Amino acid sequence: MVSQLSSLNRRQWLKSTVAGVAGLAVARQLLTTPARAQHEVDRSAKRSEPVRISGNENPFGPSQAAQAAMLQAMEKSCRYPFKESQELIALIAAKEGCSKDNVVLGVGSGEILDIVGFHFGLQKGEIVAAEPGYTQLMRAAEAQGGKSVWVPLNKKLEHDLPAMAAKMTDKTSMVYVCNPNNPTGTVVNAAELKAFAIEASKKMPVFIDEAYLDCADDYEAQTAVKLVAEGHNVVVARTFSKIYGMAGLRMGYGIMPAKLAKEVKPLSTGSVNMMGVVAATASLQDATYVAETRAKIKAGRDALIAVIKGLGKEYAEPQGNFVFFKTGMPIKTFQEKMLAEMVQVARPFPPMLEWARISIGLPEEMAVCHAALKKALA
Ligand SMILES: Cc1ncc(COP(=O)(O)O)c(C=O)c1O
Repeated sequence: MVSQLSSLNRRQWLKSTVAGVAGLAVARQLLTTPARAQHEVDRSAKRSEPVRISGNENPFGPSQAAQAAMLQAMEKSCRYPFKESQELIALIAAKEGCSKDNVVLGVGSGEILDIVGFHFGLQKGEIVAAEPGYTQLMRAAEAQGGKSVWVPLNKKLEHDLPAMAAKMTDKTSMVYVCNPNNPTGTVVNAAELKAFAIEASKKMPVFIDEAYLDCADDYEAQTAVKLVAEGHNVVVARTFSKIYGMAGLRMGYGIMPAKLAKEVKPLSTGSVNMMGVVAATASLQDATYVAETRAKIKAGRDALIAVIKGLGKEYAEPQGNFVFFKTGMPIKTFQEKMLAEMVQVARPFPPMLEWARISIGLPEEMAVCHAALKKALA
């Protein structure tokens, strides 16, 4: 029995070793094969599972440069990425036109939302934010005793800045603007947001979450990041999860006044990893990737809108990698109908419980989605 077991173990070990060696060979080949070819082979093999267009991920990434950088850095994974993080911070500061002291790296931009939320929650103040919106910062603040003040979106499902300004009082410790907003995908008029941020930030920090802004048609005109360098009390959060297609690598950052950066950094409980850092560094240096990916996302968004319009459904004007539209039925029923067609859509977003959010996937995934929508909403 013992010898039977040990020969079984030996066989298993041998099998896994062979698989390991084969895995290494694949990795070596990846270093020399154009990443795009691998990319397409990997993706098309997974068609038996539901199409996952629920999490606002970006299946067009990571970029070839990021993949090559990770493979090259694999052997460095035995080290903490101290030096590499500093290089990334310098690169981010140069890109954003700010000082290194303004940059805080996060394990995803979610960590930036968490630590800033904790910081202001601990002061027990109120945070003014739009509903429905992305709630992570407010939930973090509430966990520490802060309070959220929710302001409904306007008729176009955009942030209602005048209504938000009207809710700011002596008790307000921060205002949060998600631009483009999740789940609606709408952007705020750039000039109005700038004027609002400059005015409001005289009294309290204004947090602008730009997780999806790289997907928008006119990023340069929309970004509020210059306000930080100009000395306004503004925080801008960015992520490598969306346009850069690195959601699984958990990399993001915040640009904020140096004093606030110093205060929130000790609240981090995680730290960035070698693969994420080298992939982020390579992504920022890949000049063509963002423009190409933005065009692919826009094409997917336009095609999805055409289907939704064709079905006579109302939708919010989107600028992210997702579309939010009115299904005309309870979201739970819609989710079930779509799942029956092998498509997984996003969770409910109260109070808009007849609306659904669909992320932009690969063209072949979107073809499955379009057919499913025509059936579910017929
Ligand atoms: C608006 C917004 N901000 C921040 C995040 C956090 O993303 P990550 O932690 O992957 O950077 C998300 C995630 O979906 C989001 O939708």
